Amino acid sequence: MSELHRHLRLKALSVLQSMGLPEAAAEAALRLEPPKNKDHGDVALGTFALAKLVGKTPPQFAAEFAQQIVADGVLASAAAAGPFVNFKFQRAALAKDVLTMVMRGAAPYGIAASNGQVVVIDYSSPNIAKPFHIGHMRSTVIGGALRRIHRHLGATVHGINHLGDWGMPFAKMMTAYMHWGDETELAKAPMRYMFELYKRYSKEAKDNPALDDEAAKHFQALESGVDNQERRMWQFLRDESLKAFQGPYDRLAVTFDAITGESFFEDKMEAAMQRVVQSGVLELSDGAEVVWLKELGIKEPCLLRKRDGTTLYHTRDLAAAFYRESTYHPNRILYVVGAEQKLHFDQLKGVLTRMKEPIALAVEHVPFGLVLSKNPESKWEKFASRAGNAVFLDEILDEAVQKVRQVIAEKNPELEDKEKVAEQVGVSAIIFNDLKNSRIKDVKFDWETMLNFEGETGPYVQYACARLSGILRKAEQAVPDASKIDFAQLADAERVLLTMLDFGSAVQRAAEQSEPSIVTAQVIALAGEIHSYLRDHHVLGAEPAVRDARLLLVDAARRLLTTGLSLLGIPAPERM
Ligand code: ARG
Repeated sequence: MSELHRHLRLKALSVLQSMGLPEAAAEAALRLEPPKNKDHGDVALGTFALAKLVGKTPPQFAAEFAQQIVADGVLASAAAAGPFVNFKFQRAALAKDVLTMVMRGAAPYGIAASNGQVVVIDYSSPNIAKPFHIGHMRSTVIGGALRRIHRHLGATVHGINHLGDWGMPFAKMMTAYMHWGDETELAKAPMRYMFELYKRYSKEAKDNPALDDEAAKHFQALESGVDNQERRMWQFLRDESLKAFQGPYDRLAVTFDAITGESFFEDKMEAAMQRVVQSGVLELSDGAEVVWLKELGIKEPCLLRKRDGTTLYHTRDLAAAFYRESTYHPNRILYVVGAEQKLHFDQLKGVLTRMKEPIALAVEHVPFGLVLSKNPESKWEKFASRAGNAVFLDEILDEAVQKVRQVIAEKNPELEDKEKVAEQVGVSAIIFNDLKNSRIKDVKFDWETMLNFEGETGPYVQYACARLSGILRKAEQAVPDASKIDFAQLADAERVLLTMLDFGSAVQRAAEQSEPSIVTAQVIALAGEIHSYLRDHHVLGAEPAVRDARLLLVDAARRLLTTGLSLLGIPAPERM
C-alpha cells in the first residue's frame, strides 16, 4: 500500500468508527479502489458492504461519510456520488509519495515483504516426445507471469512443471520408436523426429489396432517398476525431450522450482488410491475403479484405475495434489491449463471434495483460450491446424525475431547490439500478445498487429522505455534526489502519476484473479500517459527546477514500466 492509501485508510477508519462501526468490521469492508473514471477522483470507495453494517442505504451512507472527511495536506477532497465516495489527493503529495516510493523500489512498486501466502503454480507441463505446441506456450507464458506477480506481492511461490512423461500417450511413442526408430535420425532433430514417428503411429494404428494393445503392454511393463527395456527407453526419450524444451524455456526466460512430471508420482499413486478407498468414495464400475460425482453436478465419473490395473492422468493428478499439500502447504494451487481440460479439473476437485479433503479448496483451474491464426481465406482458425501440422515453438520465435531484424535494418541500422535487441523485441511481441487480453479469450496471432510499434504491443511499450532511457542519457546529469525536488512543479503530470498510483492495486487484482492481462493493461496505460506527457512538455529544455522534477518523473516512469514488463517476462532494452 502506498503512503497515500495508508493515510486515507486511517482517516476513513476513524470516521467509520465515529459513525458507529466496529473496528474489525470496518477494516474488512473498507475497500479502496481505482475509480472507473479518473475525472471523478483518484480513489473510490463503494459503500455497499459498509452501509449494510449500519442498516443505511448506500447513497445515504456515502453522503454522511463524505461529509465527515476533513481535507488535510495529503487529502484534498472527498465527495459522494450515489453509493460511492470519490477521494482526491493533494497534487504535490501525490507526486512526492509516488515518485519517492518508485525510486526507492518500495512496495507496491517493488517486491513486498512476505505476505504469508504460499502459492503452487502448475504451468507449461508439455508432453514429452511431442512438440511443444502453442497451447503449452500459453500456459508457459501465463504461468510464468503469475509466478512473478505472486512473488512481487510477497508470496512464497513454487513453480512446477508437471511434465506429461507417463501413461498411454507416451507408451504409444515408445512403441513407435521400437518399431521404426533410428538413433542417428533422432539425434539430428529430436522433437521433429519424434513427432514424425508419432504421426506414423497414429496412421498405422488406424488399420492395425494391435499396435494399441502393444502400447498398453509396454505401459504395463513400464509401470511394473522393473528395470527393463521400456524403462531405459522412457529415460532416453525423456532426457532428449527435456533437452529440446530447454531451448524455448531459455528464450522465454521461464524457469521452474521443480520438474515433477507425471512419472514422479509413480510410487505415490498407491498411497493416494488407499486414501480414496478409506474415504469410502471409490466404486467399481465394470472392473474399473471410479469416483462418482453426480451429487456435485458432474455427470462423468472420475476414472482412477483401469481394468488392467494401470493408472491414469487423473490418478497422477490426485497423487500430485496430496504431495503438494504435504510438501508445500499451499493456500492456492493454480493449474494453468487450457479450457479444454475443464472437466478434468472439475473432476479432480470433485473427488477431493467428496473425500472431504481440505486441499480441495485450494485447487483452482486457471483456463485459457486457444491461439488462432488466419487461414488462406482470411478466416481465424485454430493455430495448429494450419497445414495439418504441428507448429514448433522455436520456429515461431525465430520468425518473430527475423521480422524484427528487418524492421531494425530499415529504421535503425546503426543500432548497437542489433541481434540481441531483435531477439528481445521479437520474443516479447509474442509474449505481450498472449498476455494482452483476458486469458479466457482466444489469442489472435497476427504478425502485423503484434509487431506494430504504435499499437498496444510489446514493441510499443519497449520503445516507450527506450525513449525514456534516451532522455536520461541526453540529460548528462544524474537524476536528482527526490528530497531536492519541488513537487509542486509536477501538477501538470497528474495523469501519469495517477496511473503509477494504480500499479499496486493492478498487481493485486492480477494475482487474485489469475489475470496477467491486468498488469499488461497497466503497462500500456502508463506507456501511453508518459508518451503524451512528453509530447506536450519538454524535459531537457525546461528551467532547472522544472527540469529536475521532470527528470525524476521520467526516471520513475522508466523504472515502473521496466518492473511491469518484467512481471510479464519481458525485458526493456535501453536502446532500440
Ligand atoms: N501434460 C498435460 C497436457 O499437455 C498438461 C498437464 C497440466 N497439469 C496437470 N497437473 N494436469 O495436456
